Amino acid sequence: LKLYRDISTLLTLAQAAAKGGRSPQLEDLSPISKAAIVVHNKKIAWCGPLRHLPRPLWQKIRSEQSLQGRVVLPGFVECHTHSLFAGSRAEEFESRLRGASYREIAAAGGGILSTMRATRKASRGALLRLTQQRIDRFVSQGITTLEVKTGYGLSREAELKCLRVLTDLKKSNRIHLVRTFLGAHAKPPEYPTPADYLQFLTTEMLPLVRKRQLAERVDIFVENGFFSASEAAWYLEAARQLGFATTVHADQISLSGGTLAAVQAGALSADHVIQIRGPEIAALASSDTTAVLLPAADIYMQCEFPPARALIDAGARVALATDFNPGTSPTQSVDWVGLLARLEMKMSLAEVLVAWTLNPAYALGLEKVKGSLAVGKDADFISIFGDWQELFYSVGSHSLAEVHCGGKRLFKAE
Ligand code: NIG
Ligand code: FE
Repeated sequence: LKLYRDISTLLTLAQAAAKGGRSPQLEDLSPISKAAIVVHNKKIAWCGPLRHLPRPLWQKIRSEQSLQGRVVLPGFVECHTHSLFAGSRAEEFESRLRGASYREIAAAGGGILSTMRATRKASRGALLRLTQQRIDRFVSQGITTLEVKTGYGLSREAELKCLRVLTDLKKSNRIHLVRTFLGAHAKPPEYPTPADYLQFLTTEMLPLVRKRQLAERVDIFVENGFFSASEAAWYLEAARQLGFATTVHADQISLSGGTLAAVQAGALSADHVIQIRGPEIAALASSDTTAVLLPAADIYMQCEFPPARALIDAGARVALATDFNPGTSPTQSVDWVGLLARLEMKMSLAEVLVAWTLNPAYALGLEKVKGSLAVGKDADFISIFGDWQELFYSVGSHSLAEVHCGGKRLFKAE
C-alpha cells in the first residue's frame, strides 16, 4: 500500500456523489483537513483525516509520498473532445470573423469536410503523434480521464484508421481514454443523402466497430444540414442494440430535436444544448442524461451560451468540456472553460468543480470509478498551488502542482 500524506485539504466530493451530481452546493465538495489517501492496486483503499488512519492499514504501508501541504481534489474528467484530426482551420476562423457563417462554410465544402480531407490524407503514425501531444497537453492541466471522438474520417477506411489510432493510444497511455465513434458527424461527398450514409453506418460500421471493440460510445450531430432528430432516433437505437453507450451533439445552432432524441434514447449525455427551452430542460432534469456544456465553442462561435442556471436549478446534471476541435473550439484550456462557465453562465465555483469531475464521469458512464475520491474508486487526483477558491479565477496562471493517476505521478510543475 502507498500512503499519500500532508494534504492540507482534500476535496473528496463525497456528498456531491451522494446527490448524483445534481444541484451541487459548496458543502458537497466534502472537504477534509489534514488528510491522507492510501492507494492499493491503482484504487483508493482509504482516505480521510490522517489521524483516523486505522492501525492495521498503517502496518501495510510500504511507501509514502508527501503532498507538501497542498490542496488535493479528483482529477479532471474531459468528456467531449474531437482531439483526433489533422490540419488546421485558422483561415476559416478568419473568414467567420469577416461574416461567413458556420453553415455557409460547411455547405461550401469547408468546415468538418475540410478537416476530413486533411485527416484522410494523414498517416496513422502522424495522427498518433498529433493526438499524443494533445493528450499530454490535457494531462498537464489535470485531466486524468479523456474522451476522444472520431468523425473526421467519414469513410470505412478512414474511420477505422482513426479508431485504431485511438485504440493504440488507449493501450499506451496511463490516463483513461474513452473512444467515441462519431461517424455520424457530417455526410461525406460519397453519399447522396444523410439517410444513405446513416444506412451504411448502421449496417456496416456499427457492427464492425462493435465486433472489433474499437469504441465504447456512439455520437451523432443532430442539426439542420447534418442529421435530423428522427434519423438520430433510429441510429441511436441501432447503436444501443449493439451494446454501445450513446451521446448526441444536440441543439447547438438551432433547436433541432437532438436533446429530446438523446433523452428518449437513454443517451449518457446531450451536448451543447444551447437552444433548448422549457420542455428540453424538464426532460433533462427528470432523466439520467447529463447536459454537457461547451462554453469555449460558444464564444468561438459567438453565439448564445446554454441555460446553465435553469438546467442546474431544475435539477439536471451539468458537465463542462472543451469540445476541442479545429473548427469551433480550437482550445484545450480547462481553466478558460471553467472561467467562462462562471462569467457567462453564472455557475458557482462548486458547480464548476463538480462539472469538471463527477458529472463528466457520469457523462462517460464512469461515475462508479471516476470523478470523486472514495474507497474503491480509481486513485486519480491532482494537487494545486494555493487555495481551491482560486481555481477557475485567473486565466493564464498555473495552479496545477501534480497529477496522479492510478497511484502514479504523471505530471509535476517545474
Ligand atoms: O462540437 N458540432 C459539431 N461538431 C463540432 C464541430 C466540429 C468541426 O467544426 O470540426 C462541435 O462543435
Ligand atoms: Fe463537439
